[in-house]
Amino acid sequence: MSPYFASAWILLLSQAVWALNVTSYADDTFADLVTGHHIQYTPAHAWKAVNNGNCTNCVSRPIASIAYNRTWHESDLSASSQGVTPKATFSFVGESIFVYCIVQQLGPDLSASSYMHFVLDGNHTSDFIMLPTINDEPSYVPVAVYVNTSMPMGNHTLEIFNGIPGKSHASVLLLDYIVYINFKLDAFDDKNNRHLYRSELYNPDTQCHESVGSDD
Ligand SMILES: *[C@@H]1O[C@H](CO)[C@@H](O)[C@H](O)[C@H]1NC(C)=O
Ligand SMILES: *[C@@H]1O[C@H](CO)[C@@H](O)[C@H](O)[C@H]1NC(C)=O
Ligand SMILES: *[C@@H]1O[C@H](CO)[C@@H](O)[C@H](O)[C@H]1NC(C)=O
Ligand SMILES: *[C@@H]1O[C@H](CO)[C@@H](O)[C@H](O)[C@H]1NC(C)=O
Ligand SMILES: *[C@@H]1O[C@H](CO)[C@@H](O)[C@H](O)[C@H]1NC(C)=O
Ligand SMILES: *[C@@H]1O[C@H](CO)[C@@H](O)[C@H](O)[C@H]1NC(C)=O
Repeated sequence: MSPYFASAWILLLSQAVWALNVTSYADDTFADLVTGHHIQYTPAHAWKAVNNGNCTNCVSRPIASIAYNRTWHESDLSASSQGVTPKATFSFVGESIFVYCIVQQLGPDLSASSYMHFVLDGNHTSDFIMLPTINDEPSYVPVAVYVNTSMPMGNHTLEIFNGIPGKSHASVLLLDYIVYINFKLDAFDDKNNRHLYRSELYNPDTQCHESVGSDD
């Protein structure tokens, strides 16, 4: 697009444009309320689903009320098979994502350290590392371990690994929930009574998948 057309387009849109963010929540256990998608956990034996703090052989004991909807998924790298990096995978349509985990802030030793590795659309983007401060009584906090507000609007897949591949360390991951934002841009031309551009993916009020484009 030439600069002339680009600025003309912006000028045109500035006449009548409004925008809002549509926020969607996906609990670790229950489906994404809008799309019905579930977070996938692999290999299955490396993960424990904890509901209401009810888990007989989990290594972490946060109180259930700090978790979104009182549920989380625990993966203990020390207990997984050699060479397996437990992974949670989530696919969504959006431009921003926030991943919340419960991490151990204080603990008696480093066995509950957090080493996470993030791969977005097949590309490694970042790692999250947090070691507990040594203290007899453990304490847990919810933390946004991965935030990306600069993705192109569209389909994305985020893979969350417990442990940094190729490195050897203890690591415990408690996945709580994921939030993502669908950006909606709507431009209406009053004179001709038609939409110039509309981008709307999921409507949380109607829970419908809506069309993308202009009225023609
Ligand atoms: C929408 O979310 C983005 C982050 O993805 C933020 O930068 C922007 O300010 C938000 N806009 C509105 C209208 O809330
Ligand atoms: C919270 O948990 C209840 C069941 O205990 C479930 O029906 C509901 O869909 C969950 N809410 C969210 C936002 O995941
Ligand atoms: C914990 O899980 C067990 C086995 O599924 C069940 O029998 C028990 O009622 C649960 N307790 C609570 C408090 O949810
Ligand atoms: C992301 O990965 C794809 C292949 O999976 C590659 O073609 C692309 O160049 C990568 N992008 C970046 C920014 O590394
Ligand atoms: C966010 O996503 C963009 C594009 O998909 C990528 O280039 C960038 O590295 C990501 N940022 C983070 C913090 O992962
Ligand atoms: C996302 O992917 C689905 C299925 O592959 C497709 O139907 C949909 O149009 C895509 N959405 C966007 C915004 O690319």
